[in-house]
Amino acid sequence: MVEKNNIITIDGPSGAGKSTISKLLAAKLHYTYLDTGAMYRVVALQVERSGLDLEAENAGKKLEQLLDTLDMTLAPGGQGQETRAFLESQDVSEAIRTPEMAMLASRVSAEPQVRKKLTEMQRAIGNRETIVAEGRDMGTIVFPDAKHKFFLDATPEERALRRQKQLREKGLQVEYEELLAQIRKRDRDDSSRALAPLRPAADAIVIDSSEMSIDEVVAFMLAVVNNREE
Ligand code: C5P
Repeated sequence: MVEKNNIITIDGPSGAGKSTISKLLAAKLHYTYLDTGAMYRVVALQVERSGLDLEAENAGKKLEQLLDTLDMTLAPGGQGQETRAFLESQDVSEAIRTPEMAMLASRVSAEPQVRKKLTEMQRAIGNRETIVAEGRDMGTIVFPDAKHKFFLDATPEERALRRQKQLREKGLQVEYEELLAQIRKRDRDDSSRALAPLRPAADAIVIDSSEMSIDEVVAFMLAVVNNREE
């Protein structure tokens, strides 16, 4: 297998610090940051807006139509900002970042058609650009031949605290217990789904960030990347 030098993958559960760290690492290396969670969230928003009931008998066909006509664009956020997302040219960056949309993204991400479509889009980007790809299945499924793979983890309690702080900064008040329960459910669902379950690739470096600062994690990753460049 020919290693892909232009791709770094960062996978892990929600709230492990992936977005912040992936963005910083991408900026330091002058790579493009690819936020694949945003892509699943945009599909979730479109599912919600179209009133599609994923449990209905003819859901598969409708979902296929929805994906065929999906008009999604991502753009870099400013410094310290999350990726901006557009659905049919409308800015949906805030609409996709609610806890409800996170849960629906997790639900739609178990649909094979959704995974197929988004995997294709992600690989097309990886063929064109030098990227830090962040998600759940970047190192295992989408870019198995990436040269550098990381799996970022932290305890569920630490992740719930971080998520609460993040939401507070956006003016959203959500109970810690509720976030912890959501994180546990998403972990369970993301890890147990049949397709592209959340797990570290065999050749990924696993980092537990519970007791590490963001800067420490980024410095560690940079050291690994720089050491392995020939
Ligand atoms: O990372 P983020 O929290 O934005 O992702 C939202 C949801 O999208 C995740 O809980 C997961 O179910 C799904 N996802 C995925 N594969 C990816 C990225 C996200 O299944 N590569």
